[in-house]
Amino acid sequence: MKKVLRIQTSLFGADGQSSKLADRFIEDLQKTHGELRVVTRDLAAEPVPALTLERFQALIAKPEERSAEQQSVVDFSDALIAELKAADVIVFAVPMYNFNIPAALHNYFDHLARAGVTFHYTADGPEGLIKGKQVAVFIARGGNYGEGHSQTAFLRQFLSFIGLDDAAFFHAEGLAISDESREMSLAAVRNEITETFRPQANVA
Ligand SMILES: Cc1cc2nc3c(=O)[nH]c(=O)nc-3n(C[C@H](O)[C@H](O)[C@H](O)COP(=O)(O)O)c2cc1C
Repeated sequence: MKKVLRIQTSLFGADGQSSKLADRFIEDLQKTHGELRVVTRDLAAEPVPALTLERFQALIAKPEERSAEQQSVVDFSDALIAELKAADVIVFAVPMYNFNIPAALHNYFDHLARAGVTFHYTADGPEGLIKGKQVAVFIARGGNYGEGHSQTAFLRQFLSFIGLDDAAFFHAEGLAISDESREMSLAAVRNEITETFRPQANVA
C-alpha cells in the first residue's frame, strides 16, 4: 500500500484552496493505485518552532555532547525527517503569503535541512539524501505571478537540495481577483491533476 504524506500549511487548514487541490490529487491517486495510507501534517494547526540559536546549535552538536534539551530538539527533527522518508508520495499544499511560502513551512524546512542526514557535500557540490519519492506541490495565490516566481524557485531549490528533485508543481493563481478568475484557475489545476493520472500520461 502506498504511503502518502500530505503537508498542508494554509491558515484555513483543510478548507484552504491549496489543501483542497492536494486532496483532489490524493483522491485521484487513490483511484489509480487503490488504498493509500495517508498521514497529514498540518503546519498551521501544529506549528514547528522557529529556528533559534539554541535549536540550531542542538541540530549541529556532536551526538555524544548533546544535553538532554538538545537531544529533544534533535529527536523532534529526526521524527519529521523519518516521516518524510517513510512516505512514497509527498504532497505539499502551499499558499502564497506575502510573496513567499508561509513562515510555518519555512520553520519546518529549517528542521529538515541537516548536514549528513538530509544532504551532504561532495566534490561536485551538495547532494540530497531523501530520494525516490513522488512529489507534488500545490501553490495557491491571490494574484498572478507565474510559475517563474521566486516562491516557486525557492521551493524547487529547497526540495531539490534534500533530494526531492522531481517534483510536479501546480499553480492556482488569481484566486482573489474575481470569482471568475478563481473558478477558472481552480478548474485548470483540477484538469491538470486529471491529466496527470491519465494512463497515457504515465507519470503517476
Ligand atoms: C496573510 C496572507 C498573505 C497573503 N499574501 C499574498 C501575496 O503576497 N500574494 C498573493 O498573490 N496572495 C496573497 N494572499 C492570498 C492567498 O495567497 C490566497 O488566499 C490563497 O488562496 C491562499 O491559499 P489557501 O487558500 O490554501 O489558504 C495572502 C493571504 C493571506 C491570508
